[in-house]
Amino acid sequence: MENYKKEVLSRKNQQKIKSFFKYVKGIGTAIKVPQSVYLFSKYPGIGKTHLAIAALKKAARAIAEEEYKKKETVRQGLFPYHTNWAPVYFLNVAEGLMDIRNDFSGSDKDFSQSRIYQNVKLARLVVLDDIFNEIRFSPFVLETLLYWVDYRLKNNLATIFTSNHNFELFLTEESSPISDERLQAVARNTASRVSKMVKGFMIALESSPETDYRQKMNP
Ligand SMILES: Nc1ncnc2c1ncn2[C@@H]1O[C@H](COP(=O)(O)OP(=O)(O)OP(=O)(O)O)[C@@H](O)[C@H]1O
Ligand SMILES: [Mg+2]
Repeated sequence: MENYKKEVLSRKNQQKIKSFFKYVKGIGTAIKVPQSVYLFSKYPGIGKTHLAIAALKKAARAIAEEEYKKKETVRQGLFPYHTNWAPVYFLNVAEGLMDIRNDFSGSDKDFSQSRIYQNVKLARLVVLDDIFNEIRFSPFVLETLLYWVDYRLKNNLATIFTSNHNFELFLTEESSPISDERLQAVARNTASRVSKMVKGFMIALESSPETDYRQKMNP
């Protein structure tokens, strides 16, 4: 957060980022509300992933402090958690889904037992990085996303989404990039839940090829 340069942003984007900074400042409360966020920009490199990770780090610290206050065992230096416990979790959607698929292909085990899969379900705060950026919307991709999002909504768990696609596209037949009717419905159900989770925190950044910070870093 500290190394994020606001001055390179347009005035409008600075305003939008301000609301995200406020969100991060109160992250301890935000994950309890729960309030989720959608960080969207059409063009890449404007800092969505950077900001999402900053929020995740802050949340990890807030959770650690809370656990320390709450649990005598923690204050004694013990670790009263399951070794699999992941209070916060970052997942790049495309990479994560590929890992899950690779780990379980050819095995007779159910992929829902995957650690990645479980962490995305259960962590107090999850970043789903590059959601809806898939080149191919396969049944596996769309059904897994729906399952995760539905689970997190029902269980009052906050999520930070980053994307180069506005989830609203998937809400209507006319704008949906998916032609298959059944898969279109799966994506619509996911988008509708995302919409509910991020109400008031859809941060759509104005972007262009010129706002790509990666180009600025490597002149
Ligand atoms: N305003 C900024 N100040 C400092 N560093 C920045 C800023 N914006 C972006 N960066 C840096 O630029 C690089 C690209 O940013 P990041 O990956 O967060 O972009 P993104 O919006 O997630 O892009 P994409 O759409 O491709 O996923 C990162 O190394 C990030 O730390
Ligand atoms: Mg990114």
